[in-house]
Amino acid sequence: MNRALPEASAVSPASAQAAPSMVLSIRDLSKRYNTTEALRGLSLDVAAGEFVVLLGPSGAGKSTVFRCVTGLTRPSSGLIDVHDHPMHQLSGQALRLARRDIGLIFQQFNLVGRLSALDNVLAGRLGYVAAWRVALRRFPRSDRQAALANLDRVGLLQQAYQRADSLSGGQQQRVAIARVLTQQSKLLLADEPVSSLDPEAANITLRLLRQLCREQGIGVLCSLHQVELARQFADRIVGMRAGKVVLDGPPKRFSPNELGALYHDAHSTPSADSPRIPSGN
Ligand SMILES: Nc1ncnc2c1ncn2[C@@H]1O[C@H](COP(=O)(O)OP(=O)(O)O)[C@@H](O)[C@H]1O
Ligand SMILES: [Mg+2]
Repeated sequence: MNRALPEASAVSPASAQAAPSMVLSIRDLSKRYNTTEALRGLSLDVAAGEFVVLLGPSGAGKSTVFRCVTGLTRPSSGLIDVHDHPMHQLSGQALRLARRDIGLIFQQFNLVGRLSALDNVLAGRLGYVAAWRVALRRFPRSDRQAALANLDRVGLLQQAYQRADSLSGGQQQRVAIARVLTQQSKLLLADEPVSSLDPEAANITLRLLRQLCREQGIGVLCSLHQVELARQFADRIVGMRAGKVVLDGPPKRFSPNELGALYHDAHSTPSADSPRIPSGN
């Protein structure tokens, strides 16, 4: 484990300064949509090369965390630091540049169906390539080579010129992973990446994500619904309920029942001194 922060309690909550190996630091994040308090003082960190799974029932606020981190939604309060970019206060060109460092993977793959797998992977370079090249679809040769190499890494070189919408769900999610690799992001946000996949494709996808996280030193924050998959793949599990972190630690620290309880009584709000809050957090 290469976490540089010893325990959350050792870090001043007021400090936005991430330790050098942190690719994501969130402090005291709150987000209110009209009357709904989607996030209520949430703090979490993801280190380079660390695979963090976000667990929690529907409505807990997982997608809102992702939207705040990417700057799609402005938080009501709190600090978000992505590889030294203060995401909570960026806009315009600075936000566009910062977004290069954040790769995104969604439940619904988000590929352009009529384009080839290769062109979808090249889209990972959009944040880097001049607009005229994009308009003419003339990516530099080095980008095309990198995109092909990344399709090879996810086992889809043979399908490079196939339309994305002709691929299986598992293959499409691997194209999305190759796109993130081509983007060379520091942080990967995956919002329920395996919810639309059968168990075998889900396993292949998570194994691949974890392998790339290790090999490339990418920090991964991945929301999942399946407690078992979280226990199998996570370096750390962050459990959320009602916009708050209620547990945070390595999978071994929590029993399956404890993790399953995140989903039970989902409508009762955990109290501040809930026994599931690990000491030190
Ligand atoms: N754009 C929005 N407007 C109003 N309420 C929203 C919006 N997006 C999410 N919410 C609410 O915020 C809470 C958290 O939602 P979300 O982040 O999507 O949770 P999760 O991804 O864990 O299911 C829910 O109560 C949801 O209804
Ligand atoms: Mg969601």
